Amino acid sequence: MEERTEPISYQRLYRLWEEGAWSATAIDLTLDREHFDGRLDQTQRDAALWNYAMFLTGEEAVARTLTPVLDAAPDHPQQVFLATQIADEARHHVFFDRFMREVAGVGHDTASTLEQTRALLTWGFRQTFSELERVTEALRRKPQDLGLLAQAVTLYHLVIEGMLAVPGQHFIQRYLQDMNVLPGFSEGMANVARDESRHVAFGVRFLGDLVASARECKSAAIEVLERVLPWTVGVFVPPRLDRSYTECFGFTLEEIYAFAERALETKLLRAGIHPEEVPRLARMAHLTYEERAARTWVLIRDGILGDDRREPHMTPQSMEIVFDGVARSVDLDALRSLGGPVVWDFHDDQPWYLVAADGHAEAKPGRVAEPALVLECRRGDWAKIAVGRLDPRWALLTRKLRVHGALASKAKLARLFG
Ligand SMILES: [Fe+2]
Ligand SMILES: [Fe+2]
Repeated sequence: MEERTEPISYQRLYRLWEEGAWSATAIDLTLDREHFDGRLDQTQRDAALWNYAMFLTGEEAVARTLTPVLDAAPDHPQQVFLATQIADEARHHVFFDRFMREVAGVGHDTASTLEQTRALLTWGFRQTFSELERVTEALRRKPQDLGLLAQAVTLYHLVIEGMLAVPGQHFIQRYLQDMNVLPGFSEGMANVARDESRHVAFGVRFLGDLVASARECKSAAIEVLERVLPWTVGVFVPPRLDRSYTECFGFTLEEIYAFAERALETKLLRAGIHPEEVPRLARMAHLTYEERAARTWVLIRDGILGDDRREPHMTPQSMEIVFDGVARSVDLDALRSLGGPVVWDFHDDQPWYLVAADGHAEAKPGRVAEPALVLECRRGDWAKIAVGRLDPRWALLTRKLRVHGALASKAKLARLFG
């Protein structure tokens, strides 16, 4: 992970904006049209449209939702930079809009182009951007609320730009260069990527200043991360889980997931938030980014993460991952105080149990004697509870989850699993 270095000044970021001016309308897309039809195959065209549709809609949304952040920014140099960023985001939208219509032939004006790409947006994308609308709208009503401002910057600059857009652009630029196609789009993407890295550098600086200036900012940032991280996993899940959507361009889904998570953690650290302060990141901190990405894909594949409209179909691999997360996040003192193991008595699978071992908790499949607590449910429902899709209190009320044991043990449930 990167060392914390001296943060860049708002004034320098502004000067970089002046120096990096470019025109989205002047880029020549003539060759791109020929390449799109003649040099990309059908899979590559589908994959490009799917991916670029998210950029088109994303740029339109970020251009619209930045004004509350500008209004709420406490200092003048921050406001000046944010004014330049709004212009950048509008220009990015113009650029992707041109590509969609002039190269891919989607729509006949700005509104119809946006409308016609809507069906390509993933569940994760819709969830993440709904949250951006919600947080920035709340900030519009309460511009003095520093916690909300920190949430908006975390979501906008660190998650959407730093974790989703910049890694996406990195892979796009790489394959366009390798394949030597779409020269106009390639040129535009290089400009967009330069703008975005400036926006992210601003966001890291701004969030760092907020975190250092007011106590509530850090906890507010962590809260929004906990909420959106399961949705961001779903942003880059291709239609029908078809891996050829990235592999046709020479990279894997796991590569982009690993790149994205590393990008987020590096930026959080620079803004003064240790990734292990974020429970969802802490749970996987013992793994390399590549290992985390491999697990993420298993959970997506088995319907546990990535699209909450899917029902989980558990496999031994996803059961292992879910229970590893349980063992790592359980409150060890609460588990010890039970005086016996916790057992999952699944309706549709062999049981699992959780015991306190030397300084850690262990989860294993199989039966065990004298449990202190028995949780009775379906394994898919437990997986939903474990990743935060199903509220355990609701599961209890609706009898999807039943708990057996002494009253004193049952009373420790909330503490056990947070
Ligand atoms: Fe942008
Ligand atoms: Fe941006």
